[in-house]
Amino acid sequence: MVTPKEFDVAVRYLRRKFDPAPAVAIVLGTGIPRPPLTVGGEAAFGEVPYLVAPTVEGHAGRFLFGELADVPVAIAEGRLHLFEGLPADVVTLPVRLLGRLGARAIVITGAAGSLRAEFAPGEVVVLRDHLYLGALSPLAGPAYEELGPRFVASAGAYDPSLRTLAAEQAEALGFNLREAVYAAVGGPQFETEAEAKALAKLGGDVVGMSLAAEALVARQMGLPLLALCAVTNVAGRPEDSHEAVLAGAEAPGAKIASLIESLLPRLASR
Ligand code: HPA
Repeated sequence: MVTPKEFDVAVRYLRRKFDPAPAVAIVLGTGIPRPPLTVGGEAAFGEVPYLVAPTVEGHAGRFLFGELADVPVAIAEGRLHLFEGLPADVVTLPVRLLGRLGARAIVITGAAGSLRAEFAPGEVVVLRDHLYLGALSPLAGPAYEELGPRFVASAGAYDPSLRTLAAEQAEALGFNLREAVYAAVGGPQFETEAEAKALAKLGGDVVGMSLAAEALVARQMGLPLLALCAVTNVAGRPEDSHEAVLAGAEAPGAKIASLIESLLPRLASR
């Protein structure tokens, strides 16, 4: 776990790259394209003290600072994952850093597999809840009050007013944004048929390897969160593959990018 002092060193490093505090932070996951940002500064994950570069195809692993729809934003292009063998607190460090830079809301995005026939590949969903049952918590470790409370209510992590805002905006863009429960798994293996069935029985609608740990950290920081997923494949099939996920993210990923761009003024003015 990075100590509060180390955390401050990393925050100061990023502040030197770009001065204005971002109003909104964004994390772009697997296959989600970057909205048209006017870039004012950037930093690769690997150059930021105590952070590491990602090892997954489709994850650039850098912070971009600038303006999008006239709103100052900070974007993490790509993310770190538990399946890279990294501790949960390192995986979620980009979100902690984005929060500390001053963002008033965070939008996290990623790919997910469908656990139910109602959620077809190609669709975009907004998360309303998650199942984080197996993996080690990113909040585990020494109780550094500077980073937030140790004991956190997971319930309520997915801000209801941001979900409503996103659904309204999606409708204005001409698509239906349904709410889904995200079952978090560690990966990197895709689920067996039995696992996919079990996760659906437990209440999961979609399954993925990333978003829930970040949601917990945002919750700990009291950072209002909007989580958008591209449904890229049907989970629990022999043909599941990273390539299929990347290909499946193309159409819904483009929708997510345009939704974020058109939402930004409303997110920033809350
Ligand atoms: N399982 C787990 N994570 C995923 C999947 C999946 O089927 N698709 C995209 N991310």
